[in-house]
Amino acid sequence: MTAPALELVDITAGYGGGVVLNGLNLTLAAGSVTALLGRNGAGKTTLCRICAGLLSPTRGTVRISGTALNDRASHTFARHGVGLVPQGREVFGRLSVEENLRLGAIGKNMTADLVAAYRWFPSLEVLRNRAAGSLSGGEQQMLAIARTLMGAPRLLVLDEPSEGLAPVVTRVLAARLREIAAEAGLTVLLVEQDLELIQALASTCCFLADGGIAETVPVASIGMDFDLVRRHLAL
Ligand SMILES: Nc1ncnc2c1ncn2[C@@H]1O[C@H](COP(=O)(O)OP(=O)(O)OP(=O)(O)O)[C@@H](O)[C@H]1O
Ligand SMILES: [Mg+2]
Repeated sequence: MTAPALELVDITAGYGGGVVLNGLNLTLAAGSVTALLGRNGAGKTTLCRICAGLLSPTRGTVRISGTALNDRASHTFARHGVGLVPQGREVFGRLSVEENLRLGAIGKNMTADLVAAYRWFPSLEVLRNRAAGSLSGGEQQMLAIARTLMGAPRLLVLDEPSEGLAPVVTRVLAARLREIAAEAGLTVLLVEQDLELIQALASTCCFLADGGIAETVPVASIGMDFDLVRRHLAL
């Protein structure tokens, strides 16, 4: 049987002695697409950082495809197939689109990876020599995703990709992410508030509250009746 792409077991984590995640458990089956929702400050980004090895838990175990990676550096997580698209995109604004993409590759077949990135996001090829900071929000988000894909991840963690984007841009992004996830056989953890994007991509939805996963439901059961979501997000 294939090991889960991600196992977070009894994870406690925070900053400077403060606890954000408190005994959290989460398992993502290989090839699954899971949405993670939670109100502002619930700890969604903290969870993403744990998944990518950017923050070490004070307690618990992080397993990537069956291998425990506690106390390992983020490049080790990357080598084990974790790719994080950070909240706020974090592209290097003064570097060109292509320079940003090259930074995403970890010493592999750069040419082949660039071809793949431009095939997924043709508009980036047109913009390849432009400074990343001059792109629109949607273009920057595509660049951030393409840059992460340059590392050939098997587990893609997306931290609020639709933040600040117009609905029409989010829709294009959803369609593209769907194709990429299917084609590359990715496991996806999607931190998102946009229910349309969640509906388009994810099959399972987890709610983060009080430092743990409070509820896990099939996305289909949410439908477009947002009561459950409202209750969890206290909207
Ligand atoms: N670098 C940091 N140092 C200290 N506290 C932090 C740091 N980053 C986050 N926090 C705190 O940890 C808690 C969880 O933050 P986190 O960014 O994980 O939440 P989030 O669910 O991603 O929020 P948002 O919806 O605003 O993106 C918040 O109380 C936040 O203020
Ligand atoms: Mg966040």
